[in-house]
Amino acid sequence: MPAAPFEDRARIDARDKVLDRTAFTADVQLPNMLYAMTVPAGIVKGRIAAVAVEAAMAVPGVVRVLTASDFGPPTPPPPGASGFAAAPPTPTILPDVGYRGAPIALVVAETIEAAIEAAEAVRARYDAAPAFSPLITSDGAKHEPAEPVEAGNAGTAMARATTTVEVEYECPAQHHNPIELLSTTAVWEGGRLTVYDATQSAQTTRSNVARALGIDPAVVDVKSRYVGGGFGQKGTPQRQTPLVARAAMLLGRPVKLVMPRGQVFHNATFRPLSRHRIKIGADAGGKMIAIQYDADHQQSRHGQFPPEYHESQPQMYGVADYHGTTANVRIDTQNPGYMRAPHPHPASFAFEGAVDELALKLGQDPVAFRLAHDTTIDPVTGHPLSSRFLNECIAEGARRFGWDRRRAAPGSMVLADGTQVGFGVGCGAYPSITSANIATLRIGADGTTRFAVSAHEMGQGIRTVIAAALLRELDIDPERLELQIGDTSIVPQHVTAGSWGTASALPAIQSAAAKMKAAMDELLAGRTISGNLHRKLAAVKRPYLQVEVSTLAPGQDASALQGLRSAGFALAGPAYPAFTSFSYIAHFVEVHVEPRTRRIRVPRVVSVADCGRVVSPRTAASQVRGGVVWALGSALREETEVDPRFGGWLNNDLADYVVPVNADVGEIDVSFIDRPDPLLNAVGAKGLGEVAMVGAAGAIGNAVFHATGRRLRRMPIRIDHLI
Ligand code: MOS
Repeated sequence: MPAAPFEDRARIDARDKVLDRTAFTADVQLPNMLYAMTVPAGIVKGRIAAVAVEAAMAVPGVVRVLTASDFGPPTPPPPGASGFAAAPPTPTILPDVGYRGAPIALVVAETIEAAIEAAEAVRARYDAAPAFSPLITSDGAKHEPAEPVEAGNAGTAMARATTTVEVEYECPAQHHNPIELLSTTAVWEGGRLTVYDATQSAQTTRSNVARALGIDPAVVDVKSRYVGGGFGQKGTPQRQTPLVARAAMLLGRPVKLVMPRGQVFHNATFRPLSRHRIKIGADAGGKMIAIQYDADHQQSRHGQFPPEYHESQPQMYGVADYHGTTANVRIDTQNPGYMRAPHPHPASFAFEGAVDELALKLGQDPVAFRLAHDTTIDPVTGHPLSSRFLNECIAEGARRFGWDRRRAAPGSMVLADGTQVGFGVGCGAYPSITSANIATLRIGADGTTRFAVSAHEMGQGIRTVIAAALLRELDIDPERLELQIGDTSIVPQHVTAGSWGTASALPAIQSAAAKMKAAMDELLAGRTISGNLHRKLAAVKRPYLQVEVSTLAPGQDASALQGLRSAGFALAGPAYPAFTSFSYIAHFVEVHVEPRTRRIRVPRVVSVADCGRVVSPRTAASQVRGGVVWALGSALREETEVDPRFGGWLNNDLADYVVPVNADVGEIDVSFIDRPDPLLNAVGAKGLGEVAMVGAAGAIGNAVFHATGRRLRRMPIRIDHLI
């Protein structure tokens, strides 16, 4: 029986956040704590010849300056590790510099002021090597093709096409800018290391720190209670964490580091520049029949952020013949990595643009064209798609937006003052990935409930989701419900990313609730006692009941639990043994282009999502709004620029890296199809956070074209491109 719709509930941590009572990792304060500051490398590539620390040590309050000699040799990542699992080089301080800004020393002092002053006093000599700065076109860049993604035979199908478009789109390097910076506080006490890390990935952080420092993971606990924005950057083990842990172990006092934003731009992951060459062929009936899509992206020389640009495009529009290639372009930079809707966002900017170009060439309305390409089959696996309400999203979005008021000809909608108006549509899909999970549930006669599960709260609202699902299953006191998440000392933690948090938590919640109800029935042995579960326990004089459960994603076997315990990886999907599952969204955008300044405004967006059953309507709508706002930033503002002379990121602060502010954001109308997926889990919930952003930048680009007749194939689209 699929679950009924969930009621709207307030975000459970909203009040504390508004009252500034929420302790983020950057807020951790411990007695006797020291403050650390990293010293960034002044070259792109080479070897550190000498580090002079005397001037830094002379700053009053400085306790120690750690350099490469305080760390052992780097430990390679586990074989086959990539993506979230790969954090090479193991982030200690290395004698070799691989990118500008890499830490060459860690200053530890009694105060933050002393740490900053001393960090600036550290001097280094380098043997610099020639470097290829973060430009994808650098002559020294190394092109490295990856395995193609294929369905049918795109070459043969393309030969039958009567209309084709062949276009190249580009998305720039962009950086995450969460409010909370990378933050670590480490405590070494009684042979145990406790690390408070602002991470989406406590378990991976634990294994990575242990590996980097050569200690047993069993003596390491990682705690991540509230993350002030993650977006994928905090899903990868972070550069500073083992440095701070090492300092705490050497000094025997708690050590805290909050990395300055300028260094975060260089030391944390980012969205790499990507290029997208797309050819789509349509037959005489105006149906898309073949896609050839070649993508490449910036890659570091020492890491692997997989170029997965074909993870949702082949399944979008029912095209049976698809050929997708990717290549890494290796340059001297820090590792790029996952950033909100990592591959589908840039891919859909390109792909939705190309689809729009093809619809125009065929003389078809972009909405009708997309509606005509619905499908039920994954062409890559041949399996059915689990639930797909994309056409419902498009139809509902078109209705709410008033698409029928659109005049087809580009540049034909003009206001009295000469403002050009454009209506654009863009769609997206994002894989429904799920993780195995382990949870414990304890209900007390004293009115308390403790539920421990694998999840991290990055502001997306996972606590609210978990509470909503739990409170629907069990008659317990909502005021005294404690959720223990993001803590390796309680239950193993999955990397919480890729929009799999909700769909991975729900089975554990349902299973724990069922087991608890069974245990309660056994305890009561047929007696009828009125009141909630706490009252019942009190009546039979039982202080508490506790159950533990583990759950698997569809098709997984128990070995997944071992992956979860050891490194936080136990993922399955979107291609499950019998079906493939995605979440979907359709965005409708109105842009206004001012006649004289060519300033682009976005007064109105309508977004309709199919994420299966919506568990927490309020935080879900908030995720979609956030995704749309970020798409505005990505499509119209954000680009991290490179200074070719110095090979570093130039606009490494919020003054120069321009993100949208309230004045840039107009009306965003969010709604959901809210129909359960019958196969993914019993509640029928799919993922949402990432898909929220997918296709929105494409819709903006398409709207700019419709307003102006200018097809701009590179993000960000700025005033100077329209003059
Ligand atoms: Mo996801 S890339 O962790 O926003």
